[in-house]
Amino acid sequence: MQDSLFSVKDKIIIVTGGFGQLGAQYVRELHSRGALVAVLGSTCGEDKINKVFNDIRDSKNVRFYGVNITKVDEITNALDDIENVWGTPDGLINNAGIDTQPSAPPEVSGPFENFPEEVFREVVEVNLVGTFLMTQQVGARMKQAGKSGSIVNIGSIYGVVSPVQDIYSYKKEDTGVPFIKPVAYSAAKSGVYNFTRYCATYWGRDNIRVNTLTLSGVQRADQDPRFQKNYTARIPIGRMAQANEFNGAIVFLMSDASIYMTGANVVMDGGWTAW
Ligand SMILES: NC(=O)c1ccc[n+]([C@@H]2O[C@H](COP(=O)([O-])OP(=O)(O)OC[C@H]3O[C@@H](n4cnc5c(N)ncnc54)[C@H](O)[C@@H]3O)[C@@H](O)[C@H]2O)c1
Repeated sequence: MQDSLFSVKDKIIIVTGGFGQLGAQYVRELHSRGALVAVLGSTCGEDKINKVFNDIRDSKNVRFYGVNITKVDEITNALDDIENVWGTPDGLINNAGIDTQPSAPPEVSGPFENFPEEVFREVVEVNLVGTFLMTQQVGARMKQAGKSGSIVNIGSIYGVVSPVQDIYSYKKEDTGVPFIKPVAYSAAKSGVYNFTRYCATYWGRDNIRVNTLTLSGVQRADQDPRFQKNYTARIPIGRMAQANEFNGAIVFLMSDASIYMTGANVVMDGGWTAW
């Protein structure tokens, strides 16, 4: 039985970074609930589609696009095609993003005093400017069509509070060089919150809702067990997230269950920001 309150059936939803760890989860969950899902990835070859979406690649309810979200012409080309084939989007999940993992070389994970300007610019370009461009282009089309819509910007605990640098102290034991979680990701992600509020108030009477979904760290097999232990110690709920555990919030935000919510920050962080 379809639950009409949480239904996303027949909604046209765009997921940026849709081939990534979490984006692929959102794509699959929304597709399984009858949404028409446009998967945007920075690259989108046959190999990638087969690897990530072999099970649903031939569905008429999923389409794949190679789109760098920092390039407005690539965005508009994809949106033109989506509109021609399906119609104006109902939803956008601004999920694409870049971060610096603990495995990063010291040149991009060293002290703040030496953090390279070009890396800072690159992270802001993707995580903030890319989110702006996608939102601008998709929101404009929703408004033009007089269609209500839901836009979700993916935030992070590290855009709400500062990273806890002690979590990464084990790296110095191995390499002699400390890993400093860089400023760029935090600064760019923090910008997402007021960008969200701005758009929410700007488009409020057009019924285009804009919200942030804030996540904390997801467990992955390739993470150092010392990282997982240190990170977990900081989480009230006592474990890292599983990749599928944000799907419920995505369905909620894309459906009419969240019809009266805009400009808000939905926090699913295992309690990280609660203390
Ligand atoms: N995984 C976590 O622990 C975690 C925690 C908090 C927040 N987040 C956020 O969730 C989102 C997804 O994270 P993930 O773990 O799935 O990361 P991921 O690296 O697996 O996926 C991100 C995707 O974005 C794509 N991308 C990067 N730059 C792009 C560009 N310029 N244009 C188009 N696509 C681009 C990448 O190709 C990749 O497929 C990110 O915004 C991230 O900051 C993740």
